[in-house]
Amino acid sequence: MKMPNLLDAKIRNESVVEYIEAEPLKDRDLFKGKTYFLKTYGCQMNVHDSELIRNLVEGLGFIESEKMEGTDLVILNTCAIRENAHDKMYGFLGRCKHEKDKNRDLIICICGCMAQEPSVCEEILEKYKYVDIVFGTHNIHEFPTMLANRMNKTDFEVESIEGNVYENLEYKRDSKIEAWVNIMYGCDKFCTYCIVPYTRGKQRSRKSSKILEEIADLKARGYKEVTLLGQNVNAYGKDLPEEELSFPELLLKVSDLGIDRIRFVTSHPWDFSDELIAAIASRENIVPYIHLPLQSGSSRILKLMGRRYTKEEYLELYDKIKNRVPNAAITTDIIVGFPGETEEDFLDTLEVVEKCQYDSAFTFIFSPRVGTPAEKLPDDTPLKEKEERLHRLNEVVNRLSLEKNSQYVGQVVKVLINGKSEKGENKMCGYTETMKLVNVEGATEHLGEIVDVLITDAKSFSLNGEIQ
Ligand code: 5AD
Ligand code: SF4
Repeated sequence: MKMPNLLDAKIRNESVVEYIEAEPLKDRDLFKGKTYFLKTYGCQMNVHDSELIRNLVEGLGFIESEKMEGTDLVILNTCAIRENAHDKMYGFLGRCKHEKDKNRDLIICICGCMAQEPSVCEEILEKYKYVDIVFGTHNIHEFPTMLANRMNKTDFEVESIEGNVYENLEYKRDSKIEAWVNIMYGCDKFCTYCIVPYTRGKQRSRKSSKILEEIADLKARGYKEVTLLGQNVNAYGKDLPEEELSFPELLLKVSDLGIDRIRFVTSHPWDFSDELIAAIASRENIVPYIHLPLQSGSSRILKLMGRRYTKEEYLELYDKIKNRVPNAAITTDIIVGFPGETEEDFLDTLEVVEKCQYDSAFTFIFSPRVGTPAEKLPDDTPLKEKEERLHRLNEVVNRLSLEKNSQYVGQVVKVLINGKSEKGENKMCGYTETMKLVNVEGATEHLGEIVDVLITDAKSFSLNGEIQ
């Protein structure tokens, strides 16, 4: 298997994107009656990739099993964003080995971002001989061929063809109510801590006509919500010819298709234009929910991170959004303990968090990723201190979430009921337009509907309510 060299990523970025229509699946039913177990780690992009993998393997005749024990095929879709992702993968591989000892015909596959990292890929192929197939994020569509080859015990060589866009891919979507739609792949931002531009490759936007076709089809099939997906979703189109749509233009066209709710993740503040804010403000079905990663509140650290904005510029953008879309829920991602982060830098982060009153925030301790520039920066802050900062940050974040959620009590809000609640037998759950999870008594007959719910109670991570 040929894998790219991490340090070649910037050079690879100059290459031309090819748009390829994926071949329909051959050898349907080749594995009829066999079962597979799929485990997914990581972000929504990975979860959506797993929807593609599911469709491919089920097209070959496999049936999904809820547990690894006793299956014929195990697939692990990995994440590489932080170090603990490695630990999870190696822990899982230990369980796989145990199963393979019991069943020598078991086929074990590792894919996703971690498998795309050359050093990890080589290590697995060399040291973990019981793993049968390793593939990356760029060649998922070739998985059936790899499996078929493995079955016939012929040698296979898979080239990881990077940087192309495959169309006509079919997904086995988890939900019949909410769907993710990839509108672009990869990322060109090269934030100094981040592995994504290396594992997912350069930014490649899909053609707008293909995206609109896919969403029109989802609407026709009764989907109520789409989330436009990309690592840097609001940079959509910047890699396309001028006559193509910009992200705000695409958003308005998607809105015209009449789907009830449209979201998009993840946005980079640098690409958040006035035109985009105007588009969100102008349409009812573009929901007022914006994930706007801050990463750090210190301009000095933001510079070291290569984020392309200062604390002041971020706050200015935040104000602009809040002025035009006052009811917008804003959520964020924050990294503490970036190399060289001082107490003063950290206090800047806390200050921005207090100012922005985030609805919620994903918080992380910096994790050095091999091959990224930040891995080599001097870092003399002890882990214990970083953990304390994380703890202090989480206290503020959770307090703000609870305050925000408490403001909903007594209000009637629109909730898209999407499934059974984990909070009790007779409960269903769903999301508000602002992405708040609501548990509702009864409501089974409202699955897939947008209903009015009176909010009766608020917690940091969810709300309780009654159907009106
Ligand atoms: N260490 C810690 N957190 C990271 N993230 C990305 N890379 C790293 C890293 N090396 C976080 C960022 C990003 C989110 C998806 O994961 O906050 O927005
Ligand atoms: Fe990573 Fe996001 Fe920065 Fe891209 S914009 S390099 S995905 S953190």
